[in-house]
Amino acid sequence: VALTVQEATGTHTVCYDSGYLNTVMARSSITYIDGEQGIMRYRGIPIEQLAEQSSFLEVAFLLIFGDLPSKGQLDQFSKLVADHSFLHTDICDYMRSFRYDAHPMGIFISSMAALATTIPAGDLQQLDKHIYRILGQASTIAANAYRHRIGRAFNEPRMDLGYTENFLYMLDRLSERDYRPHPAIVRALDILWIVHADHELNCSTACMRHLTSARVDPYTAISGAASALFGPSHGGAAEAVVRQLERIQTIENIEPFLERVKAKEERLFGFGHRVYKSFDPRARILKEQVEKILELVKVEEPLFLVAKELEQRALQDEYFRARRLYPNVDFYSGVIYRALGFPTDFYPLLFAIPRIAGWLAHSREAQLAEAQLDVREHTHVVRPAQVYTGSAPRPFVSLEAGD
Ligand code: ACO
Repeated sequence: VALTVQEATGTHTVCYDSGYLNTVMARSSITYIDGEQGIMRYRGIPIEQLAEQSSFLEVAFLLIFGDLPSKGQLDQFSKLVADHSFLHTDICDYMRSFRYDAHPMGIFISSMAALATTIPAGDLQQLDKHIYRILGQASTIAANAYRHRIGRAFNEPRMDLGYTENFLYMLDRLSERDYRPHPAIVRALDILWIVHADHELNCSTACMRHLTSARVDPYTAISGAASALFGPSHGGAAEAVVRQLERIQTIENIEPFLERVKAKEERLFGFGHRVYKSFDPRARILKEQVEKILELVKVEEPLFLVAKELEQRALQDEYFRARRLYPNVDFYSGVIYRALGFPTDFYPLLFAIPRIAGWLAHSREAQLAEAQLDVREHTHVVRPAQVYTGSAPRPFVSLEAGD
């Protein structure tokens, strides 16, 4: 809505756009989305091909540096990330100081910000020096947050394991014996992290660009972006899906539940998307993984039958078809996380770790554009305008005078 604002200096027109639905804040060459046709590409490469053929770190490299790595570049990148995955003991002590039942995302956000305090202030401004450390330490922090929650000692990362394998290893290793996560689970997590790595200017990524514009250090900025992701309206949908399935509980309850949804008494979580109106390409990829994981873990839980039946009935229902409501990425990621045994409050971390690749890519893109002083790209500190709706000028009244 265009508004005309009367100011002391004259009159000008501004666009009132509270959710930035129609405001472009950046030119970006990272992720392309066509919601009508269900297309998503990272740096021009279809997400389906990346999910099938690449690894999470390969995708992180692609997003951050703009091109797929050569074999040598990927080996070097992976080694640097692994080299930087060990945490300073002060950070481990800090993590142990949280209550045993603290929300793991709260621990993650705080520890990410705390990392900045272990680095000399002068070293903090150059993002490229910190990319490996942020990627490496994010998964160690997340694993420690999980271990803290279950009252177990932290596990040191292993240099000889891949990124997702190492993360699963740090979560689950119970003794000195040589524990290795199942390769199919490692691959499923890799795919989950590939499809979650970026989604152009979602709320947390916009937040990252916002913080980058103020030149805050990368650790504090990542912590800020993770805070935005922590919001139930952003990174909490997978958890909401599982809680909803728990509530529905049985197949008999699906029909009455759908009736309530159609009567607008509640929403069907995991369905519908602001951008994707024909299908969510990430959901298609994950649907296949759900089948594989359920087959592998062989958990006989009514929840999974309810999920399948709910998906089928909603897909055939005229209410959802007419409104172009299809399962989104969170419908399936919630089911996979549940099948893999992750506690529900850990889901936001499983979203945050891969999204760090996207946050770093956007931060780097914004910094490079500014360094090149490209007039088109050059932005000032992000500072949206407001329309003042408060009181007209009035004098201060002291407490005494008011009595
Ligand atoms: N369940 C039931 N009805 C729905 C749903 C849903 N999940 N989503 C939209 N609708 C209905 C609305 O009631 C509305 O109906 P009406 O035309 O009769 O009034 C119509 O569909 C359009 O709804 P909008 O809210 O305008 O759709 P929008 O595109 O703005 O919403 C959103 C997108 C917020 C994701 C919505 O679909 C939703 O709330 N989904 C459930 C939550 C969820 O799964 N979120 C995760 C999204 S994926 C991600 O963030 C990574």
